[in-house]
Amino acid sequence: MIQPFWLYISYTFPMALASPAPLMRVNGERLMQRLMDLATISPIPGGGSSRLALTDEDAAGRDLVVGWMKELGLEVTIDVVGNVVGTWNVGHGSPVMTGSHIDTVRTGGKYDGNLGVLAGLEVIQSMQENNHQPSRPIAVAFFTNEEGARFAPDMFGSLVYVGGLSVEEALDTVTIDGARVADELERVGYNGSTPCPGFAPSSFIELHIEQGPVLEQVGVQIGAVTGVQGISWQEVTIEGQSNHAGTTPMSMRHDPAFVAASLAVFLRQLSQRFSGHQVCTVGKIDLFPNLINVVPAKAVVTLDVRNTDEQLLAQAESEIADYIKKIELSEGVTITTRPLARFEPVEFDEDVISLVESIAMEHGHTVQRMPSGAGHDAQMLARVCPSAMIFVPSVLGISHNPAEHTSTQDITNGTNILLQAMLSLAEKKDN
Ligand code: GLV
Ligand code: MN
Ligand code: MN
Repeated sequence: MIQPFWLYISYTFPMALASPAPLMRVNGERLMQRLMDLATISPIPGGGSSRLALTDEDAAGRDLVVGWMKELGLEVTIDVVGNVVGTWNVGHGSPVMTGSHIDTVRTGGKYDGNLGVLAGLEVIQSMQENNHQPSRPIAVAFFTNEEGARFAPDMFGSLVYVGGLSVEEALDTVTIDGARVADELERVGYNGSTPCPGFAPSSFIELHIEQGPVLEQVGVQIGAVTGVQGISWQEVTIEGQSNHAGTTPMSMRHDPAFVAASLAVFLRQLSQRFSGHQVCTVGKIDLFPNLINVVPAKAVVTLDVRNTDEQLLAQAESEIADYIKKIELSEGVTITTRPLARFEPVEFDEDVISLVESIAMEHGHTVQRMPSGAGHDAQMLARVCPSAMIFVPSVLGISHNPAEHTSTQDITNGTNILLQAMLSLAEKKDN
């Protein structure tokens, strides 16, 4: 079992290792410029961007990044669910892949996902400028709808890429605004022809901001990510009796808003009972008709429940199901649930994790092993090849918020580690 991420309080001190040749370095300023350029597409107040998957805004971001891929001479493929892979065709064998996503939540920052994709381009550009020809091709991918904010599940594109969701089911998925994914892919011009599942890379490594407070709080520069906690998403629809807010006695109400609020309270109490191993979020409550003086007819609520321990996650799900049955009876409402996403905790590859750790130490950085609280495309790629991730600190642990920030120095550190890790992985022979 992987430990909850906030229990990781020990870290490794840097060791000075003798280095025979000057290390190849990335250009952090150029990477920052690309991050800022991408953030100008659909900017929002506070400095972030809003590019929900397969919207016009996402398409504009895609076009910009594909243009950069082409400038670097990469062969660009677009698959049937819109995943984009840019490959630098050097060397032999299956590519070492990096990447992430460029879709955002509605209140996205500049770094979540974007960093992993643009750092991949920076790694390739640095190798090219140093006339370094790796022994394997190097690929950079961005996967469709990692966020899951416009349609479920999250990590949608990478899940289809590894064969975890059929193309038919994926294309038939309906977005929160009622569109079909197949139609949206066509509308934005990213209904590619490359089949899914896609090729299995020789290894996958993703650079990402931590999106949490741990690295900053313990004063560590690099996270060597050991895995990703399990996640359970469901939508709960509560139907009651709509009525007049002034005339309906409290004892006669069948109020979906009250049940929605009770569910949020139950989830908070459940996470407290599970003594800090559990995170639960009610991120969305829609009331119908949503008027001040009307007891609502209906509430639609989303539940996001995560744990690093699969058994505890299953127990949380079962307690939530029992509570739903109980409150349905006591409040005289009708409740239906719809599963949206369910992924077990994932453990990354020990060799790739220790590669990240040793490179970070070689660069003189403090490094700590830690699991990820957020979902990532690397957890899907881990199904088909040795995979791991590199985390860099998030200022105040803030993410999914336009205030999301990571310093240029931390971004440069993380990208240099990505570069060295990919150089090393590209020299690995097939087993
Ligand atoms: C993806 O950003 C997630 O919700 O973990
Ligand atoms: Mn992300
Ligand atoms: Mn995200």
